[in-house]
Amino acid sequence: MIKINGIKIFRGELEVPGDKSISHRSLMISALSSGKSKITGLSKGQDVIATKRFIELLGADVTELGDSIYVEGGTERLCAPNDAIDVGNSGTLIRIGAGLAAGIGGEFSFYGDASVNKRPMKRVFDPLRKMGADIFASNAAETAPFTILSRGLKGIRYQLPIPSAQVKSSILFAGLGTKDVTTVIEPIPTRRHTEEMLKAAGANITVTSRSNVREISVSKSALTPANYQIPGDPSQAAFWIVAGLISPNSEVTVKNIYIGQLRSDFIEVLRQMGADIDVTYGSSTSADVTSRSSSLRATEISGPSIAGLIDEIPILAVAASVASGTTRIGDAAELRVKESDRISTMVKALRSFGVTVIENDDGMEITGGGKLHGGEVQAKLDHRIAMSCAILGSAVEGTTVIEGFECVDSSYPGFLEDLTRITAVEN
Ligand code: S3P
Repeated sequence: MIKINGIKIFRGELEVPGDKSISHRSLMISALSSGKSKITGLSKGQDVIATKRFIELLGADVTELGDSIYVEGGTERLCAPNDAIDVGNSGTLIRIGAGLAAGIGGEFSFYGDASVNKRPMKRVFDPLRKMGADIFASNAAETAPFTILSRGLKGIRYQLPIPSAQVKSSILFAGLGTKDVTTVIEPIPTRRHTEEMLKAAGANITVTSRSNVREISVSKSALTPANYQIPGDPSQAAFWIVAGLISPNSEVTVKNIYIGQLRSDFIEVLRQMGADIDVTYGSSTSADVTSRSSSLRATEISGPSIAGLIDEIPILAVAASVASGTTRIGDAAELRVKESDRISTMVKALRSFGVTVIENDDGMEITGGGKLHGGEVQAKLDHRIAMSCAILGSAVEGTTVIEGFECVDSSYPGFLEDLTRITAVEN
């Protein structure tokens, strides 16, 4: 539990942890690549540490030297471990890891914490079973813990029933182990790190796109080691960018974050809300982003764009809470199966700050601009809820209590230190 005092101003520069999605994938792809890969800027969050443990359990050799991680990998050295795989809080690891494991072959058991063990797994079990894997879940709801037994897979052609980069990636990693072609059809685009990073590692992978429907095809591939330099995580930067907007006299710069479609789309949403944000590119995919105190107004967040904003909805809801007018967030039922039910957790949290919110099945309607006060928040093992509410609590009058704040360690262990530093200037 932590207590946060409010009416802070946010001023200064910071760096956020390495991008979590890219970190998981850099470890998994390095494990499958014959030879030594080097990774710098890897996230130090517990989720990514769990993925590091996972590839070590499978047989990759991981060493740390200064800020770099070296992974000696190759399919010839990977096999099913004797021990069950503990993914902690990481939905990305359990879903993509299941596909990677199925592609290697053998018997693998997976389990996670109370949050992961409630999250839907059928979305990856269905395609992996079609590919020939046998999967035994511990309960009728088909959630973790589960065991996956794979003795050689066949390629499939599979249209994603829900937009999910984890499901897409799970199938593609499994497809790396099949002789014939595996194709994932994606009617609503999701983050593209897996296909981009596999291509860069030399995989037999092709991507076609027709009127926004993407088809990604992969087959058995020999991957080559690479030098991965991981930029900062835009989803973590979003907390500070919104912090800079919602408090008076504030200006925050987050250095070197990943910028790309379906990951940094929240910047456009904030600009539509009237946010003063500068993006200064350092390369085609990274930038320093500065936000300044702004008068925000309500917006509509719904439709296919939700897939590219899904992790930022909690902090966008914070922005909406101080914006004038009513913001409607819709078509976002996926939020109900994240680390927590993010619709109900966020609605309860925002109401405790005095925000007027209507809960809908697929989102919420937030009327901002009212007088807010410190809140009482249950983080429910959900790092993004904890961090979003810490930002709102720092901006409003009074004291905010966040129960279960420790869960932020899954993605951003230094968050509180950064919050203290960035709010050190007195109002
Ligand atoms: C992720 C995909 C998204 C996202 C998660 C990370 C990834 O999940 O919410 O934080 O790295 O592939 P879904 O695939 O369930 O949408």
